[in-house]
Parts: sequence; structure tokens; C-alpha cells
Amino acid sequence: MWGGRFAEGPSAVMREINASIPFDKQMWRQDISGSKAHVAMLGAQGIVSTEDVAAIDAGLDRVATDYADNGVPDDLALEDIHMLTEARLADAIGPAAGRLHTARSRNDQVATDFRLWVRDAIDAVLAALTGLDAALLSRAEQHAADVMPGFTHLQSAQPVTLGHHLMAYHEMVSRDMARFRDARARMNLCPLGSAALAGTSFPIDRHATAQALGFDGPTRNSLDSVSDRDFALEYLTSATQCALHLSRLAEEFVLWASQPFGFVALSDAWSTGSSIMPQKRNPDAAELVRGHAGRILGCMTSLMVTMKGLPLAYSKDMQDDKPPVFEAHDLLGLSIAAMTGMIDSATFRTDRMRALAESGFATATDLADWLVREGGMPFREAHHVTGRVVKRAEELGVTLDALPLHEMTAIDARIDARVFDVLSVDASVASRTSFGGTAPANVRAAVAAARGGEMA
Ligand code: ARG
Repeated sequence: MWGGRFAEGPSAVMREINASIPFDKQMWRQDISGSKAHVAMLGAQGIVSTEDVAAIDAGLDRVATDYADNGVPDDLALEDIHMLTEARLADAIGPAAGRLHTARSRNDQVATDFRLWVRDAIDAVLAALTGLDAALLSRAEQHAADVMPGFTHLQSAQPVTLGHHLMAYHEMVSRDMARFRDARARMNLCPLGSAALAGTSFPIDRHATAQALGFDGPTRNSLDSVSDRDFALEYLTSATQCALHLSRLAEEFVLWASQPFGFVALSDAWSTGSSIMPQKRNPDAAELVRGHAGRILGCMTSLMVTMKGLPLAYSKDMQDDKPPVFEAHDLLGLSIAAMTGMIDSATFRTDRMRALAESGFATATDLADWLVREGGMPFREAHHVTGRVVKRAEELGVTLDALPLHEMTAIDARIDARVFDVLSVDASVASRTSFGGTAPANVRAAVAAARGGEMA
């Protein structure tokens, strides 16, 4: 393609280090679409004859059919998907193929293909996250009133509902989706026609190609167009943030599936056995979701470091933009699918959650709040009195709601029998009706609002 100026071919290693076909062949569909839009525009603008446009367009269809049927070969000599497709087109239709690359460079071509690819990738992620969110909402609704210990410092803190806990992840997933949508809207401008870096003297119509490819319009600066990879980085930062959320949820599944917690039993389909310990049901999928988050973050770091020192405009370093994006996308897709499957099929041990919620004096704050409300105490004093009550319950080996009233009045005479209204874990969660609180009624309202597409 560029041999005119060269007496010798590249060395074998040069060829290998230079070639991106082993990975950029993933973009063959986008490359064909971009070329079809480009050649149609060249015809409409009178830059290429109608006959040649028809031949090129039909030839591109033939190349596409061949790729779809037989795969895309790793032809290192042809370097990348752009040159391979052009060579295949020449095989198919002869010298007219040479007109396709008029008013175009691989620099704007690859920027266009990659944007199209990332746009499709975002659509796939959004569809997958919609499924994950539906799983969270349905399990949250099912367990809207089931009590579990809420933790801070991984110490029993206050009772919460399992539905509320799951809805916390709904919030994270909603923000992740918003980040992907936002990235998609920002990247949806077409670089095609920026040519190598400076634009072109041919009378092209960039608005037409942008529209044909479903972009909102053409990019505004040719140098930026061929140099910008922030669209790929926004995909990766959004993917990383999403993976971090999945990783936290996965970590909770790992903890919850452990014997000391016993909060969840993973279905057979989402656990693995041990080759030596017959009793084992390991949460491997959850562990790998946690692990994949690290790799996705690595992909993001990789492209950031590739880009950070590059002068304008295109440098070949930028060819290394694709492997981390492709890898992150595969890992994220698997992670979302695995989390969705685990959530859909998990059995939550609500009896065990309730027993632990009741055992950790988790309603101590409710007692302190009651002392403020009914006993007129300043909160600090109420905190102190409650601490003494907890100590006494601990000595007697009972939960707060099983501590006899006389034990409490011996500590503070302002306590009376009405206190039992707030000491059970059910009373505790039912009372947390402040906006965004854990009460079952709030959880149900939040699920309904999420399904209706409004903010709860
Ligand atoms: N394969 C290259 C890439 O992925 C596109 C080619 C641009 N090459 C060039 N010599 N300007 O970035």
C-alpha cells in the first residue's frame, strides 16, 4: 500500500510489531460500514464516478460476506483491517478499488471505526446492565421486609433490610449506566473526513457521512479528530467504575457465602467444587468478578499511560488503544452476566440474617433515640445510658428486647415499658422511614420508582 518509496520490504519483526490485524479484525463490520458511507459520499459529491461507487459498494458487500463466512485472516503483511479490506476489495473488483481511499487516511478511518465499535460496545453494556438491574429490583422487592445486620467496619451496626441493601447496588448500577450514556452522547461525532491530520482539499461532505453512520454530526477539528482517544478512555473509566461496583457486590457474595456468615447459598450453577474437599461449594464466579475488576482497571491504566505523552496528531502508539478496550469489554460483559446469574439464582438465608441482626445489639441506636425522644435526654447522655444497658444485656446473655424492664429501670428510671416498641429489629427497620431510609415501605417505593424510571 505504501511501497512506492521503498526498495526493500520490512523485516519479519518489523512486520510483526507493526501489525494490528490480529486484534483490529474485531472491527471489520465497522470498517465496512465506514467505507460504504465514505464511498457513497464520494459519489454524491462527484469525486468518484457512479459506476466506480457501485462497483466498490458491491465489492465491499462481497468482502463482508467472505469475512462473515470464513473469518478474517491474520495477514500480517497487510498490517491492519483497513489495508486487508482494501486488498480484498481489489481482489474482488480490480483497480476501481483504489478510488475508495480518496480524501481519507487510515488515521481518520481507524478513529471512525473505533468510535463505531465503542458505541456498539456501550449499547451492549447498557443492555446487560439493564438485565442486572432488573435482577436486583426483583430480589429487592422479594426481600423488602427481611431484616439483616447492617455493618460499619464490618461490625454489626444497625438492622437494615436485605431489599435496602440490594437497592444500594441498584443506585450504583444506575449511575454506571448514566456514565456510559453520557460517554456515548459525547463521543457520537464522526472523525471521518479529517484525513491524515489536516483535512482534505477534496469537496467532501462530512455531514453526510456522519449522518449515514448514525453520528450527531462531524467532529470539529481535524487534528483533534485523529488524536482523540478520550472516547475510548471514557468507555474504560466507566467500565472500571462499573467493575468496581460489581467487585464490591461480588466480595459481599464471597463473604455471605462463607460458613461464618451463611447469608447466601449460591445455586449449583454458580458454585464450583473442590478436587480434594468434598464439602466445598466455592464462589469462584464471584471471586473472578472481583479479580476481573483489577484487570479492567489495568486496561484503563494501560491506555491512559499510552496517551499521556503523545504530541498531536497520530502516533503509532495509538494502535495500542484497542487491545485494552477489547479486553475490558469482554471481562466486563462476563462480569455483568455472572453477577446477574448469581443474583437471580441465589437463595438468601433470611433466617440466618435475622438471627445475626438480633444478636449484635443492633437496636442500641433505637434505644438511644427513644431516650432522647421520650426521656428528654441529650443524645450524648442517651448514648451513655444505652451503653450501660447493652453491657447488662451482654452480662445476662440476652438480646435488648429480651432484657427485663427492671434491669433497664435500674440503670435509668426514665425508661418504661413503651421502650419495647423500638427494641425489636422489625420495629427498628420499620421506623427508618426518612427519605432514603431502610424501612420496608421505602424499599417498595424505591423499587416501584426505579421501575417507573423516576428517582425514588
Ligand atoms: N492500524 C492503525 C491503528 O490502529 C491505523 C493505521 C494508521 N497508520 C498510519 N501509519 N498512520 O492505529
